[in-house]
Amino acid sequence: MKKDLFSKKANIYEKDDKRVSNVDNIANAISNNVELDKNMSLMDFGSGTGLLLERIAPYVRKITGIDISSSMNSELIKKKESLPCELDVLEIDMELESLKENFDGIISSMTMHHIKDIDSLFVKFYSNIRAGGFLAISDLDLEDGSFHTEDTGVHHFGFDREAIAEAAKKAKFQNVKVIDASIVEKPHGKYPVFLLTATKNV
Ligand SMILES: C[S@@+](CC[C@H](N)C(=O)[O-])C[C@H]1O[C@@H](n2cnc3c(N)ncnc32)[C@H](O)[C@@H]1O
Repeated sequence: MKKDLFSKKANIYEKDDKRVSNVDNIANAISNNVELDKNMSLMDFGSGTGLLLERIAPYVRKITGIDISSSMNSELIKKKESLPCELDVLEIDMELESLKENFDGIISSMTMHHIKDIDSLFVKFYSNIRAGGFLAISDLDLEDGSFHTEDTGVHHFGFDREAIAEAAKKAKFQNVKVIDASIVEKPHGKYPVFLLTATKNV
C-alpha cells in the first residue's frame, strides 16, 4: 500500500483561493470545449477533494472519482449528498490497477504530473472510454520545478504540449488538441496550465 501523500493537506486543500480559481478555469475550459449531457457517466482521474467534479456535476448523470488518497477521498465523500449528479468514489492506484468499467469521458485536473508512466496511463484511459467518448485532461506546462514546495509524489515538472499530445496519439486517441486553460500565479512565478482534449472514434 502506497503512503497517502495528501494526508496532511486534504482538510485544508480548498483553502487556497488560487488553487480553487485554477480549477474553476479548468472546468470552464472543459465545459466550453467538450459536449456534456445529462446521460453521461464520467471518470474524474485523481479527483482529490472533488474541486473539478463538483463543477462538472450539473452537466452529467454520474461521475466516478478515482483517487489513491484515502484522506482526499474522505473529503470528497462529504460532498456526495449535495452534488447534482450521482457519485462513486473508488480508492485505486491507476498506475497499478485497472478498471473494467467504460465511461463516456474521462476528465482530470492537475494529476498527470503525479504519474510516472503516462504512456501506459493513456492506454488505460483509452480502454476505459466507450467508442465515441472523450478525454479532457488538464495539467501544468513545463516548469522549472518550483511549482511544488512539498513532495506530493511529483514525477514531471509539467509537460511539453507536443510531447503529451504525441503520447495520447500513440494510445490511439484522435482529434487531439491542446489549448490554454489557466495560469496559476504564485509569489515566485506564473505557471500556465493546458487542457488536452481528444476523442475515441466509433
Ligand atoms: C494535485 S491533486 C489534484 C486533485 C483535483 N483533481 C484538483 O484539481 O483539485 C492530485 C490527485 O491525484 C491523486 N493521485 C496521484 N497519483 C494517483 C494514482 N496513481 N492513482 C489515482 N490517483 C492518484 C492524488 O491522491 C491527488 O488527490
